Amino acid sequence: MKKLYIETLGCAMNVRDSEHMIAELNSKEPYELTEELNEADLIIINTCSVREKPVSKLFSEIGIFNKYKKESAKIGVTGCTASHLGKEIIKRAPSVDFVLGARNISKITQVIEQRHAVEIDINHDDSTYAFGEYRTNPFKSMVNISMGCDKSCTFCIVPATRGDEVSIPSDLILGEIAKGVKSGAKEVMLLGQNVNNYGKHFTANDESTNFTQLLQKISKIDGLERIRFTSPHPLHMDDEFLEEFANNPKICKQIHVPLQSGSTSLLKAMRRGYSKEWFINRCEKIRTLCPKATISTDIIVGFPNESEEDFADTMDVLEKVRFEQLFSFKYSPRPHTAAAEFKEQIPNEVAGARLTKLQARHTEILDEIMEAQMGVEHKVYFDELKAGGKVSGRSDDGKLFFVEGSEELLGKIVNVKVTKVSRGALEGIVSA
Ligand code: SAH
Ligand code: F3S
Repeated sequence: MKKLYIETLGCAMNVRDSEHMIAELNSKEPYELTEELNEADLIIINTCSVREKPVSKLFSEIGIFNKYKKESAKIGVTGCTASHLGKEIIKRAPSVDFVLGARNISKITQVIEQRHAVEIDINHDDSTYAFGEYRTNPFKSMVNISMGCDKSCTFCIVPATRGDEVSIPSDLILGEIAKGVKSGAKEVMLLGQNVNNYGKHFTANDESTNFTQLLQKISKIDGLERIRFTSPHPLHMDDEFLEEFANNPKICKQIHVPLQSGSTSLLKAMRRGYSKEWFINRCEKIRTLCPKATISTDIIVGFPNESEEDFADTMDVLEKVRFEQLFSFKYSPRPHTAAAEFKEQIPNEVAGARLTKLQARHTEILDEIMEAQMGVEHKVYFDELKAGGKVSGRSDDGKLFFVEGSEELLGKIVNVKVTKVSRGALEGIVSA
């Protein structure tokens, strides 16, 4: 059997895209996955281009792969960097055999047959969401509900790499989730760049399901006990959606509300479509409707023109909302984005100091949240076997747990009492 080495960078969508590529490859010829580069017949790097760093690392990585791979092995670069650099990749690294964009992964079986194929068209093609079945872990099921993004946040390269937003017909989504349940998953993670904008852009389809209705349909699937989704957009968090989130017992009480900046004027320059007040109002609404929900966020510091006052607004939102998880980044200018042309770029040291301050304060908040968890009982869905006789899983509100245990716990939801707390994860004992 041929062997495949696949490296997946970036977001959950890329993780699912890698699974889709494996399914497509297997539909023609079975591949065995390997973690040994020198054994592989096919090497795929599924890339991210949201920030510059991973892009610059790509070329040094290709060099290393080239040195250690079997002579006959093919190297392919797929995903968002493939979309945005296209044939430039082959120019800079001729050892790369093919380049396949994030929107074109259904063509994987075609491009592996051609030397120096470049497929990076971001226009919609129906075949791009009909895939075979493959899951790296049968207990972890991710299902795409939409592709692309219809926004134009001025910092973000994603619309240029993943193309226009398209909602996948709900019957296909329900079918995919049912397949996941059949192979052992009790939980599904719905994926899209703007999940709660679902239903605005169907192609060749007279469907009118919106995200709230989609959640209602999904929660009727037999055997499915938990629904998660990432990422929703704060702009589309209307009351109807938040009420469904709070009241539907199958929806996990963890929600990602990507802030980006706390300053209304910067949010405008970012073209996010909401103000600081709207953001805080939505988080307060979540807390009122569902006090046990945890809120996570993404924040960018050092966006062009960010003043001390703008940054103070971001710190203020952090104090008010007390996010449980924070993904924070220094602004990175990207090609094909409006903000890269903005004049007042912020010096790296200033952005770095702000990032440090933001993360330090968040760490204090997180420590307080986690300390209060000692002795608390959670229902944990276990989905992964870990080294040293441990099993990991997540509570309904998204906390990562490790307990002593074996395969028997996988695919089960059990009560766990917290016995040890740390910033990143909790330890506990199964209590019933
Ligand atoms: N809609 C997607 C966003 C994908 S990008 C989602 O909500 O998941 C993921 C995160 O990367 C963004 O929320 C943003 O915080 C960060 N990001 C995007 N472009 C960036 C840039 N140019 N510099 C720094 N961070 C960026
Ligand atoms: Fe990017 Fe904004 Fe869309 S962050 S993915 S353009 S919602």
